[in-house]
Amino acid sequence: MAKEEEKRYKALRKIKDELLAFKESPLYEYRIKNRYFPVVGEGSHFAKIMFVGEAPGRNEAEKGRPFCGVSGNLLNDLLLSAGIKRGDVYITNIVKDRPPENRDPTPAEKELYAPFLDRQIKIIQPKVIAALGRHAMEYIMNHFGLGGKLEPISLAHGKSFKATTSYGEVDIVALYHPAVAIYNRNQKDTLIKDFRVINKLLQ
Ligand code: URA
Repeated sequence: MAKEEEKRYKALRKIKDELLAFKESPLYEYRIKNRYFPVVGEGSHFAKIMFVGEAPGRNEAEKGRPFCGVSGNLLNDLLLSAGIKRGDVYITNIVKDRPPENRDPTPAEKELYAPFLDRQIKIIQPKVIAALGRHAMEYIMNHFGLGGKLEPISLAHGKSFKATTSYGEVDIVALYHPAVAIYNRNQKDTLIKDFRVINKLLQ
């Protein structure tokens, strides 16, 4: 394994080990009781695009993989429509354990898990961070000093914002969460259109 590859693999493996033993989390007991897994993230450790969702749902927690249920099928469709290979990107969430009954993660849970996401971003060094939904958009924009530009997701979706990180410049794209398209074809069309922004940023 090349040196940088090994470095990234080990740093990401450490995050996984820490999450497996993350007893401080208020979601830990629920994970153990249901025999769930933490959902660390998956994809290329050299991805140019990182997708950040909210928190795992039941399918994800059962398999330990992000976006592998209904929202995942929609995400796969959107990636396909934009000509992006799932294996080329990195997919993760702010909160790495399933909140009970898919409730929204609390501010305290987001704060507790966010340092893992921050580390994943620093290790993978994506050029584009695509925030899936309001929770991810708010966290990512605040984290990169763009809190003053925050708008409701209904206005922000499809827009991109430049930010400076410790490893260089990054484009942040605000997107609706794929789940909004489950029962709404119009929302899916909007998402398909917005996903094209990602490709433009990489040209
Ligand atoms: N919704 C999310 O935000 N993340 C997942 O991994 C699955 C559904």
